[in-house]
Amino acid sequence: MENAFSAREFRNALGLFATGVAVATASNHRHRAGITINSFASVSLSPPLVLFSAAKTLNSIDTFNDAAGFTINVLSADQASLSAQFAKAGEDKWLNVGTAAGKHGGIVITPCLVSFDCKLHAKCDGGDHVIFIGEVTDIIDGTGDQPLLYFRGSYRDLAPRSGARLAA
Ligand SMILES: Cc1cc2nc3c(=O)[nH]c(=O)nc-3n(C[C@H](O)[C@H](O)[C@H](O)COP(=O)(O)O)c2cc1C
Repeated sequence: MENAFSAREFRNALGLFATGVAVATASNHRHRAGITINSFASVSLSPPLVLFSAAKTLNSIDTFNDAAGFTINVLSADQASLSAQFAKAGEDKWLNVGTAAGKHGGIVITPCLVSFDCKLHAKCDGGDHVIFIGEVTDIIDGTGDQPLLYFRGSYRDLAPRSGARLAA
């Protein structure tokens, strides 16, 4: 069926939904994968489930598909260059990146705002993306308290609402 909008209009409209930025990581016996994502979302509190979607065309899609799990590393406000590093297709993304092993093949990036280490719960077809749902087994607190934000195709900073009343 024809859509009533162009691909560009769809992308522009999606860009109005402000998000955080994270790096999803996974590994198999041969490769380490890391991609910048903003498709991260919470799914369930009990059990604790989260999801992200990965393009089927990624160089690293086989690594994500093979892995027993993944790690979501939420970036801080001062990590825009790390986000750009993990958004470049095929580059050596791991130069000067601090890492620790996750429990299920994911890679914890240090430092970052917070990491969710996940065991794979389910994988679903999502059109030109694969939706990975993970059960969070560990939360690794990071440093910093300000998130990196993404809105209308640009990185943004969190700012207090002008005229906002403080909660009593
Ligand atoms: C802010 C931002 C958000 C992104 N979100 C996603 C995403 O949710 N899913 C995805 O597949 N790619 C996303 N990308 C693009 C991937 O990061 C990029 O295609 C990937 O790193 C290429 O990796 P590869 O070398 O495995 O192909 C995003 C890029 C940016 C800059």
